Amino acid sequence: MKILVTGGLGFIGSHTVVELQNEGFEVLVVDNLSNTSLNVLDGIQSITGKIPAFEKLDLREKDNVQDFFKRHHDISGVIHFAASKAVGESVENPLLYYENNINALVYVLQELQKKPEANFIFSSSCTVYGQAEKMPITENAPVQQPISPYGNTKKIGEEIIIDVAKVTNINAILLRYFNPIGAHPSTEIGELPIGVPQNLVPFITQTGFGLRKELAVYGDDYPTPDGTAVRDYIHVVDLAKAHVIALQRLLNKKNTAKVETFNLGTGTGSSVLEVINTFEKVSGKKLPYKIVGRREGDITEAYANTDKANTVLGWKAQSTLEEAMASAWKWEQKIRK
Ligand code: WQD
Repeated sequence: MKILVTGGLGFIGSHTVVELQNEGFEVLVVDNLSNTSLNVLDGIQSITGKIPAFEKLDLREKDNVQDFFKRHHDISGVIHFAASKAVGESVENPLLYYENNINALVYVLQELQKKPEANFIFSSSCTVYGQAEKMPITENAPVQQPISPYGNTKKIGEEIIIDVAKVTNINAILLRYFNPIGAHPSTEIGELPIGVPQNLVPFITQTGFGLRKELAVYGDDYPTPDGTAVRDYIHVVDLAKAHVIALQRLLNKKNTAKVETFNLGTGTGSSVLEVINTFEKVSGKKLPYKIVGRREGDITEAYANTDKANTVLGWKAQSTLEEAMASAWKWEQKIRK
């Protein structure tokens, strides 16, 4: 079966391509290479021995999307990662995010609705919950108006998919990621932040390597055990495996609704200081950091209730924070060689 992976050379996309190939799927990757490079294809091949078919495609170009789907009739499922994902950038340049994250989704769905049947996995985010009232967060927690345009594109994307699935043959699963971190244990693929990393873990590993002077910890006055904000850090390989399981659920017609939603996290919350301590433990390095003011738009805490993914999907994150941080550190050292 041929599976289309949009944004398949990105961080989570590339790890998912590896897991799809490991499960015997034929994979077709499209990516506009705006936030990655073709070298990722080599990384995938060195892990699985198979190079996925690849076409450079910018999903914002409607004609090219139509032409692509005209040439590829035999796609059994789509995993849609292609999107811009930097929260801060989305605040400064909202239209880039609405154009890329919404238009691309619409053009892909317009092609899928022409097919007799379509299976669609959507990369969403726990950011749609905003600051949830209750921890751990279940899928029934209310979706709130996300603070960033990035988060809003995920909320709108989910709403578009729900509306479209109601009146078409498209079956979908929305996967709400918590905080993806780490890298493939082979160190052949991992996170490639371009410029100054916005996310915590790549900033930590770059600081650990000496590329950054010190980590700025955004606030230690949160109502949490050590005052720093709490998140649910999930290993990217665990996350990738969940996508394959979700896709198989649709392909095997096990879904019980046209659109299903799953939180993908470990179920454990970790504070920024705990992540720092874990890095120091796995690297043997002291991490220079300073406490500064809170970052605009940050929430206090978010960690997943994973019961639904565990019981309905039959998926559970396997890696500990320590293992995920060790893989991130190993990757940082590899790419800086
Ligand atoms: C984690 C914690 C920061 C950097 C966002 C998106 C989410 C997903 C992941 C895309 C927070 C603190 C961070 C730093 C710090 N998006 N921090 N110093 O904001 O939880 O989630 O990225 O994949 O959808 O919402 O992740 O890694 O930016 O921050 O203290 O230099 O680390 O304040 O508490 P976040 P993050």
